[in-house]
Amino acid sequence: MERKWWHDKVAYQIYPKSFLDTNGDGIGDLRGVISKLDYLKELGVDIIWLSPIYKSPFVDQGYDISDYYAIAEEFGTMEEFDELLHEAKKRNMYILMDLVVNHCSIEHEWFKKALEDPEGEYADFFYFREGKDGNPPDNLRSYFGGSVWEPVPNSNKYYLHLFSKEQPDLNWENPKLREEVYKMVNWWLDKGLAGFRIDAIMNIKKDLEFPMLEPDGDDGLAICFRTIESLNEKNPEGIDLFLKELKERTFKPHDALTVAEAFNIDKSALSKFIGEDGYFSTIFDFSAETMVNGEHGWYDTPDFTVDEWKNELFSAQEMAEGIGFMANIIENHDEPRGVSRYLPTYAQNDMGKKMIATVSLLFRGLPFIYQGQEIGMTNSEWNDITEFNDINTKDQYNVARDAGLSDDEAMDACRKFSRDNARTPMQWTFKENAGFTEGTPWLKLNPNYVDINVESQEKDPDSVLNYYKKLIALRKARKYSETFIYGNFKRELEDESKIVAYSRSLNDQKIIIVANFDGVQREISIDESLKEILISNSNRNIDFDMAKDTGFQFVMEPSEVFVFEVEI
Ligand code: GLC
Repeated sequence: MERKWWHDKVAYQIYPKSFLDTNGDGIGDLRGVISKLDYLKELGVDIIWLSPIYKSPFVDQGYDISDYYAIAEEFGTMEEFDELLHEAKKRNMYILMDLVVNHCSIEHEWFKKALEDPEGEYADFFYFREGKDGNPPDNLRSYFGGSVWEPVPNSNKYYLHLFSKEQPDLNWENPKLREEVYKMVNWWLDKGLAGFRIDAIMNIKKDLEFPMLEPDGDDGLAICFRTIESLNEKNPEGIDLFLKELKERTFKPHDALTVAEAFNIDKSALSKFIGEDGYFSTIFDFSAETMVNGEHGWYDTPDFTVDEWKNELFSAQEMAEGIGFMANIIENHDEPRGVSRYLPTYAQNDMGKKMIATVSLLFRGLPFIYQGQEIGMTNSEWNDITEFNDINTKDQYNVARDAGLSDDEAMDACRKFSRDNARTPMQWTFKENAGFTEGTPWLKLNPNYVDINVESQEKDPDSVLNYYKKLIALRKARKYSETFIYGNFKRELEDESKIVAYSRSLNDQKIIIVANFDGVQREISIDESLKEILISNSNRNIDFDMAKDTGFQFVMEPSEVFVFEVEI
C-alpha cells in the first residue's frame, strides 16, 4: 500500500459554534480554536476538521453556505482563519474544512440570481423544474421532512432541496457550476488547507427523471435517499464522472486529505472510493450508525446488542482490508454521544468510556475524535422540545407525533438521538458555563459539566482525558505504530459473546485488544504467550506467571480492556 502523509495521524473534529467563545457572544469562534491548539497538540491530535465556518444564515448550523469565500462573522475574520492556518503549521498540525457542495443557501448570490430570472443562466445552477398536474415533479421527502420541492415564486416551477428548503441543491450536471466548485476548492487548498471533509456527497447525482416512488408514510411521500441509492446502484458511472473530475481537478494536484461522508458503500464499490486511486482518501465508517437507523424515524429505532454492534464494526474493518483506510468514529455532530449510545447502561462510566475509546482508536484506519469525546461527554438533559435548536430534531419530533406518539414518547426519541446532544458547548471547566463563554451560550449546556470537564481531568491522572493521551501515545509509539497503522485486523475470541476482541499484526508483531462489554466478570483464555501489557483501563496487573508458552487465562472485570503484545 502506497504510504500517505496522513496515515500515521490522529484527527479531531471541532464544532466551532460550541468549542470556545472568546468574545462573549455565546458562540464559539476561531480565536477560541487558536487558543486551544496547544491543548489539542498535547492530546496527540495532528489533523483538525472544522465543521463549516463559512458565511451562512445558520438554518442548518452552517451547512447552508451563502458565501464560500467568506468566514461567518460569528466565528471571526479571514485574517483570523489565516492565523489559524499559520499557528497550526507551526505545530505540525493540519486543518481540514467542511466541503458542502451538494447544496448551498437560499441566500447565496447564485440562488438569488436564479430566483430573479427562473429561465436564466443561474437557474441552471440548481434544479428548477415544472410540476406534474399541479403537483411537484415527484413525491420524494427531504431528509428534514416535507417535499423535496419548493415552489419558485412568480413561476410555474419548483426548486429541489434534499435537505431543508433553505438548502437548494446544486446542479452538478451543469459544467459551469462544476467549474465554480473546482475554483473554490483550489482557492482554499492554495491557501494552505490540508484537505476537506466532504458533506453529503453521494447526493450530487440525481435521477433526472424524478420518478414517483411507492410512499413510505402517511404523507404520501418516499424518503429521498431511496432514489439516490438505487441510482448509484443502477448507474454508478453517473456519480463516478463527477467524483473523478472533482478529484483530478482539485484534490489530487494538492495531495489533499479528503474524508467523505458516504453511507452504505458496499465492498464492490469500496475500492472506487478509497482504493489506491479512489475518489477520496478515506470515508467515515458509519456501519454502527446505520445499524440503528429507524425505518420511519428516530422513534422506531431498533435495539441492538453488543455483539451486533461489534459485528458491524468488525465487518467494516474486514471490508477495508487490502483496499484502503476507513475513518473511524464513535460520534460526530450528527449523532448522539457515542458513550450514551453504544455503551450498555452498566458500562456508562469512566471505565466504559476508556474501553470504547481503546476499541475505536486502535482499529485500522484514521481515528477521529469528536470534541468532548476525550473527556467522556455524554448526552444532555432535555425537558422540552423548545430547548432544542437542531432543525432535524424538530422534524423528528413532529414525525413521532404524527405517528401517534405522545409528547413524552416523542421527547424520549429526541433525548436519545438528537444531534444537539453532541452540539452542547464544550466543557472546559467546572465554573460558570463550563468556561465556554462569558455570555449566554447559544445552546443550553449539559449540566454535568461540573463533574465532566477538561480542567478537573487534567489534574486527575486516572481521568478519561489522560487515558486518551496515553492511548494516542501508544498508537503513535515508534515500537508499535507500524502495526497499528498497517497491521492486519483479525477477529479474536469469536465465541465469546459481549467480549470485543481483535488483533493487529504486522511482520513479527502481534497485538491483541480485549474488552469486556459484559456487566459481569468474565474468564478469558488466550492461546498465545503474553509478552507485555501495553495499556489497560484498570490499574491492575495480571499474574504474569500464568502466561507461559501455553497461553494465558485471566478474569476480566466488567468494562475492563487490555491491550497485549503477544509472542508470534
Ligand atoms: C451532513 C452534515 C449535516 C448536515 C447535512 C446537510 O449530513 O453532517 O450536519 O445537516 O449534511 O448539509
